[in-house]
Amino acid sequence: MTKISNIGLGTAAIGRPLYINIKNTAQTGGVFNITEFKQEGMQVLESAYQKGIRYFDTAPGYGLSEQLLIEWLQEKNDPTIKIGTKWGYTYVANFDSNADVHEIKEHSLSKLNEQWEVSKQLLPYLSFYQIHSATLDTGVLENEKILNRLHEIKKKYSVQVGITASGANQLEILEKASAISIDNEILFSVYQCTFNMLEQSIRKVDQLFKNGTQLIIKEALANGRVFNNSNYPEYNSFYAYLEKLESELQVGRDAIILSYCSTIYPNAIVLSGANNETHLSSNLNAPKVKLTGTQIDELSKFKVAAEFYWNERKKLTWN
Ligand SMILES: NC(=O)c1ccc[n+]([C@@H]2O[C@H](COP(=O)([O-])OP(=O)(O)OC[C@H]3O[C@@H](n4cnc5c(N)ncnc54)[C@H](OP(=O)(O)O)[C@@H]3O)[C@@H](O)[C@H]2O)c1
Repeated sequence: MTKISNIGLGTAAIGRPLYINIKNTAQTGGVFNITEFKQEGMQVLESAYQKGIRYFDTAPGYGLSEQLLIEWLQEKNDPTIKIGTKWGYTYVANFDSNADVHEIKEHSLSKLNEQWEVSKQLLPYLSFYQIHSATLDTGVLENEKILNRLHEIKKKYSVQVGITASGANQLEILEKASAISIDNEILFSVYQCTFNMLEQSIRKVDQLFKNGTQLIIKEALANGRVFNNSNYPEYNSFYAYLEKLESELQVGRDAIILSYCSTIYPNAIVLSGANNETHLSSNLNAPKVKLTGTQIDELSKFKVAAEFYWNERKKLTWN
């Protein structure tokens, strides 16, 4: 088994039964069974590991996800495993598919301290500790007490601290975060952001992803919008080109797109959000896909305006 260094497993969909994306697989009916759900999650973690994945992305906002990883790591003794977690969202839906509210965002010092007490159980595998969805409105990037506490965690526990960013203003957030220094040292060195051929705005700040900073790419499959969908007729030519590539390369578009992201950003960790064996195996064909310069250029032409992309993203529901 070859270790896969540029793909990580995002565990949002194995930690809670509902998630914001386009469901392609039919939901199994019946009552939610937490024991089975945990077993399935554990199987995905182990299968990803057996297939060579060594980076796992989690967050307290992902329901059971951190607990699954904490338990799973107890059986592991492999220093090549790396975990990235976050703080700032609390999962509140209690696995109820009818819940009105699934998560609550709170960028306060007390929330950071509370969630750190749990997340630190991921040490020594914990490598990246990120502000979950840093935004300008919560003031988190101006809160000195929080920034100092993150600096303290970084120094005391030898973790890299970072931010995750979403939305049409993710560039502004990245630039603001990258300018923060404590003790003459840049505080953040991990940036988790959205990138795919439809949403390419981070290409304007490529200089941020150099000099020892780690880029982590999330939502590479545009939350499922890259799969043929009659609700998005504006992507018909994109879908047609992906079909052509799938037939030429004899591989699924998920692997093609993950490979596209890794080609543009060879040092990035691209997250697979697979929550089952079929998607995982299919996503992990990505390292075998070698795209030509022409194919990369053609795919890059399908970018849309960030505002358009994020307006569409806002309309996706929990399912
Ligand atoms: N920091 C943040 O704020 C943040 C936000 C979002 C995500 N993330 C991280 O990024 C990870 C990945 O994000 P994501 O899962 O939301 O986005 P994604 O990778 O863009 O999209 C996942 C979608 O692709 C579908 N899919 C995947 N492989 C497929 C295949 N082979 N065939 C058909 N459909 C396939 C999934 O379908 P199904 O629904 O049917 O499985 C799902 O709809 C998350 O697990 C999380 O760790 C972080």
